[in-house]
Amino acid sequence: MFSSLLTAIIFGLGLQSVNVAAQSASAYCDSTSSICYEGYTDPTINITIGIILPPLSTGSEPNRTEFIAEIVAPVSFGWTGLSVGGQMADSLLFTVWPYNNEVIFGPRWTSGYVQPLPYTGPLITMLPDTMVNSTHIKASFRCENCTAWNGGSLGTGDLSGFQLIAYVASDDTPVDDPSNVASNFTEHDQMNFFGLDLSTAHSADYDTYWGAQVEYGQCGGSTWTGPTVCGYGLTCEYSSAYYSQCVAA
Ligand code: HEM
Repeated sequence: MFSSLLTAIIFGLGLQSVNVAAQSASAYCDSTSSICYEGYTDPTINITIGIILPPLSTGSEPNRTEFIAEIVAPVSFGWTGLSVGGQMADSLLFTVWPYNNEVIFGPRWTSGYVQPLPYTGPLITMLPDTMVNSTHIKASFRCENCTAWNGGSLGTGDLSGFQLIAYVASDDTPVDDPSNVASNFTEHDQMNFFGLDLSTAHSADYDTYWGAQVEYGQCGGSTWTGPTVCGYGLTCEYSSAYYSQCVAA
């Protein structure tokens, strides 16, 4: 069923070149951040997309509404885009491009095949391995309030379901004002897709990926230089001026 969905979507596209093989995400770990993602590297246009979610709720609480993702692309691209809803309209989109040595990154949204505009709602925290060098640009980010958006949701509301992920790029046309995250730009020249089985994309290590401390780990103290924030469901409990520890909230 997933591959027929992919085929239907891909044959509907027409104009731009896409790889008609129904590729799927697989597990890999980023060698810089050590974050282990489910994702895909496009062998033709050299874009890597990875995504990882927190563990599914085991109790009666709702699932957490965040994920961590990375976009790695050739620095020569004018801009690169990610659609976590797998389509352009009514989806949570992200754009990234370089400006001097900075990574200009932000969420976007549109209701049709027109310029997507900056989108408010997601709380984005860039992770430390975000970078640009002479060959590549990388945006690595935590996205809170991001599993549902105007007009859609990840896995159509089932965080262990299927999600088509799309990525697009402009080969070499820069955005109008690269210093401005809200800049306009022209249409992509490249687009492609992969299938993501969300049931494989939840990690018990998720909170450590964005820099939080684990249960019973140190989170404070006068000489402490490590994480001072505890993971989900934990709180940083003061013991002395020299030691605080993450414990169940
Ligand atoms: C000025 C900006 C943009 C214009 C004019 C534009 C226009 C279009 C058009 C005309 C198509 C249909 C192409 C075809 O059928 O061959 C399309 C498809 C697509 N676009 Fe864009 N686009 C823009 C920006 C973006 C951005 C920023 C993203 C993602 C971050 C994106 C993601 C997609 C995706 C995933 C598709 C294929 C799936 C679908 O048809 O929904 N686009 N775009």
